[in-house]
Amino acid sequence: MYAIAIDGPAGAGKSSAAKAASRKLGFIYVDTGALYRTVGLYMLQNEISMQEQEKVAAALRDIQVELAFRPDGQHVFLNGEDVSEKIRTPQVSMAASSVSAIPAVREFLFDLQLSLAEKNNVLMDGRDIGTVVLPNAQVKIFLTASAEERARRRCLELEQKGQPVAYEEVLEDIRQRDYQDSHREIAPLVPAKDAVILDTSDCDLEGAVQRILEIVHKKLPNIKIDF
Ligand code: DC
Repeated sequence: MYAIAIDGPAGAGKSSAAKAASRKLGFIYVDTGALYRTVGLYMLQNEISMQEQEKVAAALRDIQVELAFRPDGQHVFLNGEDVSEKIRTPQVSMAASSVSAIPAVREFLFDLQLSLAEKNNVLMDGRDIGTVVLPNAQVKIFLTASAEERARRRCLELEQKGQPVAYEEVLEDIRQRDYQDSHREIAPLVPAKDAVILDTSDCDLEGAVQRILEIVHKKLPNIKIDF
């Protein structure tokens, strides 16, 4: 099986670029952030404080997280309910960032991620895919962009959805999540030693996809790519 790991900070455009690249490769696209978001959603729904690690760890016993891959992309289920839409709020983003710093949560989600890569050719995106989950991935890419550019893109996206927010607020949110994600003790957000760093500050989505495909082609010349 082939595995491509794409890690990087929030809002770097990982998911859009990874989704498009996976189609060109015929690999399944696994968005691992959705798993942490789903655990975060459960804690919010059940008013479990994410500062209390033991309570969060105990609650994991009551959670079943599943993924399904459909033509329109990945769907995530929390105890049988499709929560793919519900997990896309700023509140759940913060909750995901908080629960992802808890070792029991990372362990809980580890096997699911690994088993997907054992059974399929995957393009998996997250924060620790190249460093922890799939250290033997044949291709590792660290996709990043400046915090300002990421905030600008996020504002635009929310505006298009009819939910405008202040740029300063989004930038602050991104900086806070970056800090939280890269300073946690377990699986912090750092590029793997053998990752190719791809800065997308000055390229659009199409450009980012092309650059990903070129990196993949260089490392895996045998894979057929629909450029
Ligand atoms: O990619 P995302 O924004 O949906 O991720 C939500 C949160 O989950 C993010 O703050 C960091 C965490 N996360 C993680 O710790 N490890 C991963 N492999 C994916 C996400």
